[in-house]
Amino acid sequence: MKNVLITGGAGFIGSNFVRYLLENGDDQINVINLDLLTYAGNLANLNGLPDESKYIFIHGDIRDQNLISEIFNQYSIDTIVHFAAESHVDRSILGPSAFVETNIIGTFILLEEAKKYWGENWEEKKFHHVSTDEVFGSLEPDDSAFTENTPYDPRSPYSASKASSDHLVRAYFHTYGLPITISNCTNNYGPYQYPEKFIPVIITNCLQGNPIPIYGDGKQIRDWLYVVDHCEAIYKVLQNGQIGYTYNIGGNNQPTNIEIVNRICDIFDDRMPNSPYAPHKELIKFIKDRPGHDRRYAMDITRIQTELDWNPTENLDTGLQKTVDWYLANLDWIEEIRNDSVYTDWMEKNYTKRS
Ligand code: NAD
Ligand code: TYD
Repeated sequence: MKNVLITGGAGFIGSNFVRYLLENGDDQINVINLDLLTYAGNLANLNGLPDESKYIFIHGDIRDQNLISEIFNQYSIDTIVHFAAESHVDRSILGPSAFVETNIIGTFILLEEAKKYWGENWEEKKFHHVSTDEVFGSLEPDDSAFTENTPYDPRSPYSASKASSDHLVRAYFHTYGLPITISNCTNNYGPYQYPEKFIPVIITNCLQGNPIPIYGDGKQIRDWLYVVDHCEAIYKVLQNGQIGYTYNIGGNNQPTNIEIVNRICDIFDDRMPNSPYAPHKELIKFIKDRPGHDRRYAMDITRIQTELDWNPTENLDTGLQKTVDWYLANLDWIEEIRNDSVYTDWMEKNYTKRS
């Protein structure tokens, strides 16, 4: 692994991964970050990187076949870590076409260009595709956790587009021998997450004294993973993952959405006891549910634990505390997004129709 193309490296997980790789990766690694800078991409996520001499940013679209071909040739790419995607379920319900375009067509173009550029020489090459637990569908309370062999059953336009991209990636391995790996991860949280997703929505609303919106009865269950743990897991897959394999990644927890809100409110009460909004639980507001809302996700992570010796280092308490503290220390970062009309338009569109 020497010249690593990271797609979507200005987004939440991608920017954390760029930082992780420059801090913890092998010295010889160069990072080439390709990002379209959609509403979710933000160059401020990449401020203060540890070693800028090993880092190049390219503003562009993964669907731009000529650009991808040029990048492979110019930078002799041997490894791809593919994060770029439309990633928000609620947006996929209101506007699915961007999800089909980027998540399916974009992945197809990257696969085609990798196949062309690498030819039959697969040695020391890897195409790693970053995916989600949502491709497996929704679990009943007593169902056992998803394994790597659970049949796909996506239920939102987002998860259907990710499932579709996973199928394409696997097809390029079986049909052409492209050296791929895939990881399917549970819900991430941590620094630089755009405040349309649940945990940063709770945090920003606690800060501003706005209602904390809980969809439906709030008893939906997710498994939550601190983003840096996800980055470490992906790096382990890149180093030692078996070609053609899928690895499930998760935090081994099963809180309901209400529990997540309560824990964050407790942290705010502790950090800001004199806030006019304390006790912060009084901000909770139940609102109209998401259509087709998946009830529960749970991940069996035995494979990555046993084969690659990976385990999450943060538990939910330590991870949530770190996350709240990061947002409190980076109020300017939130403020810049809050002042952007793309953000305010989305909040208006998503929440006014539900209240
Ligand atoms: P994000 O929405 O924060 O970032 C996506 C990034 O991709 C942005 O920087 C955006 O500008 C870029 N992008 C979008 N379309 C592009 C295009 N056509 N060309 C180039 N760049 C483009 O997403 P995230 O939460 O960081 O998720 C990253 C990946 O991880 C996604 O593939 C997602 O499906 C997967 N994933 C996310 C989670 C989670 O909880 N966030 C969990 C499991 C898997
Ligand atoms: P989200 O962060 O959008 O991730 P995903 O839908 O991919 O799991 O949502 C996490 C959970 O929180 C999900 O069950 C929906 C719920 N949720 C709310 O209750 N209120 C909100 O304002 C948001 C954004 C999500």
